[in-house]
Amino acid sequence: MKVLVIGNGGREHTIAWRLAQSNLIEDVICVPGNGGTAVESKCRNIDPKDSPALANLSRNEVAVSVAKSEKVDFAVIGPEDPLAEGIADALWDAGIPTVGPKSKGAALEASKDLSKVFMQKYGVACADSQTFTDKDSALAYIRKKGAPIVVKADGLAAGKGVVVAKTLEEAENAVEDLMAGLGEAASKLVIEEYLQGVEISVLAAVSVTEESAANGKACIKSFLPARDHKRLLDGAKGPNTGGMGAVCPLEDVTPETMAAFEKNILQPTLKGLIAEKMDYRGFIFFGLMITKDGPKALEYNVRLGDPETQAVLPMMDFDFAELCQAIMNGTLDSFEMKWKSGFQVAPVAVSGGYPLKYAKGKEITFAKPLIEKAGAKVFIAGAVKDRRENSPTLLTSGGRVLACSAHGDTFEEAWKKSYEAMSGVKFEGMFFRKDIGLPGAAESN
Ligand code: AMP
Ligand code: GLY
Repeated sequence: MKVLVIGNGGREHTIAWRLAQSNLIEDVICVPGNGGTAVESKCRNIDPKDSPALANLSRNEVAVSVAKSEKVDFAVIGPEDPLAEGIADALWDAGIPTVGPKSKGAALEASKDLSKVFMQKYGVACADSQTFTDKDSALAYIRKKGAPIVVKADGLAAGKGVVVAKTLEEAENAVEDLMAGLGEAASKLVIEEYLQGVEISVLAAVSVTEESAANGKACIKSFLPARDHKRLLDGAKGPNTGGMGAVCPLEDVTPETMAAFEKNILQPTLKGLIAEKMDYRGFIFFGLMITKDGPKALEYNVRLGDPETQAVLPMMDFDFAELCQAIMNGTLDSFEMKWKSGFQVAPVAVSGGYPLKYAKGKEITFAKPLIEKAGAKVFIAGAVKDRRENSPTLLTSGGRVLACSAHGDTFEEAWKKSYEAMSGVKFEGMFFRKDIGLPGAAESN
């Protein structure tokens, strides 16, 4: 089979790598892909910018056009914004089976207001909240509730739309700043109860259609729990980033917590997807706060997490392409997910200066024997192939550049291997956290 993967980050390199390992898959076409997918076995990139026929098309049109001209058997969508724009609707309409929800389901991430309405309607355990379109009412509500309190822009804001305000003044400023600075994304604000606890990410496969809902086969199956580390510096300090590293599974998450998640969050979510007649065949990411009252949903993402994917997918002891088939054809309920024992640790290397200003175009060198000895896999995020003819070099092109993901029978072994591999990667200005997965590294309130 031939598969199309949409996206250009570390998550998409990992998805493409896992698909390429399947005996079912002959070709993985990445649009646009990155420097990692450019050289991965069975993978190749098509960058619309390089093709006069594609350069002026919309993103959805590019996906359909490539899917048809390359005669792909199915597509997997990595990021949330094409999903919100209806890329899955466009591909299914063109006869291309797709992993990724249609735009109605994608709105669960694209609108925080809609996702809170959904959670409340179907009894998903989450923080109390109220939505405002008017600044004065928002400010009045905040003054009534007091701090700490959380202010969220409704729309997709690339991680800039949430302020966890410790004081009333911070909360008031957040209302002003979000409404002034984010435009349309903050025309509605969700103001939410502050939850205390430690965060985890549960990624899951979803297969809900009208047909599977009718025959009782609609289901959500969660993967092993994982944790991202969003702050820039060791000890969960410094500014928020897109993610500085991930671990999977988590020693601090008990089976009781996972059972409470299943009962109070996953099952009500499934009930809601069915009741709302969603055609949701893809992945969902539950951002959870583990509070003293059990897990509460912070948010839904309608895709796999980045960098969680770089730690979770290598733990799969099953064929990822078969999982994609099961999601699309409504047999997920009988699909058996087997997991490797042990742990996966995946620290991320970023460009110096990230998440603010950083340089691009820096050459990356890899000490291959060291990385191979550690048994680690390097997943490329923000790096591209040097375009000079026959150059094997990768050049940095983004803030988060790569992750070194390694497995171990124990957490300590996985940790040591991933950092050994990291010591074999070099580029000017390279920075990484030294404490991914260690005590004190997780975000908590
Ligand atoms: P979100 O985009 O909704 O996941 O929010 C981004 C981050 O803000 C989360 O990962 C949490 O660290 C924090 N956060 C969001 N909602 C809350 C809440 N209700 N209480 C405490 N922290 C929160
Ligand atoms: N790692 C957080 C996210 O993917 O949204």
